[in-house]
Amino acid sequence: MLVVVKSDYDDMSRTAAQIVSELVRKKPDCVIGFATGSTPLGTYKELIRLHREEGLDFSKVTTFNLDEYVGLPPSHPQSYHYFMWENLFKHINVDKRFVHIPQGMANDVELFCEWYEEKIEKAGGIDLQILGIGANGHIAFNEPGSSLGSRTRIKTLDELTKRDNARFFEKDEEVPKYAITMGVGTIMDAKELLLLASGSQKADAIKQTVEGPITALYPATIVQMHRKATIVCDEDAASLLTRKYSGYLS
Ligand code: GLP
Repeated sequence: MLVVVKSDYDDMSRTAAQIVSELVRKKPDCVIGFATGSTPLGTYKELIRLHREEGLDFSKVTTFNLDEYVGLPPSHPQSYHYFMWENLFKHINVDKRFVHIPQGMANDVELFCEWYEEKIEKAGGIDLQILGIGANGHIAFNEPGSSLGSRTRIKTLDELTKRDNARFFEKDEEVPKYAITMGVGTIMDAKELLLLASGSQKADAIKQTVEGPITALYPATIVQMHRKATIVCDEDAASLLTRKYSGYLS
């Protein structure tokens, strides 16, 4: 695992976008796993700039998103569908036939999850999976206690996650209780992982992820076992790491 510590959020975002764009240039028909949340927004802005100003071509790229809230239609402003189209897809030349985001309104969730796994496999697997991290150590919506071998499935959201999300909804009753999420095993099957973290509120999560014992109670710690994982974070998110002097690039 490579930990790259950048000075601030913008620097982190540029570095992450560079990793993504290098892959797209090297392999125009690559498969990218996208994440939502506030952390990757700067990366997406930079990818949009690279598309507009430097002709970065996404027309052959296949995408798979990590997760989606159950019960929210794609048109809902808090759905991850809406998020991805507003913040990235509509600004680049991605082909909508190649975009995959879990269906929060699927009639048969179990069947949908099987289909999603098959789609990823048929696409040749994910080349690069972008990840954020929850303050409780979740990746995608794999909450504490998630099986480290899990596949795409429905998950009940943790109390802390629901509290973190409440700010996006008018009433507490509107905050989704469930999500469809790629499993920890699905994420670990990606050929490369790129985990982003910014700010002191993520410092403990990064310390656990990099230096803590691997445990299902902190799903992000499994990233230590991946053969090609890069964590790009800013100084604040890296502030609790004890071993910054060795093996960590800055
Ligand atoms: C949600 C998403 C995660 C994301 C996390 C952190 O829970 N399901 O994929 O990593 O939020 O969000 P933020 O980047 O806003 O801190």
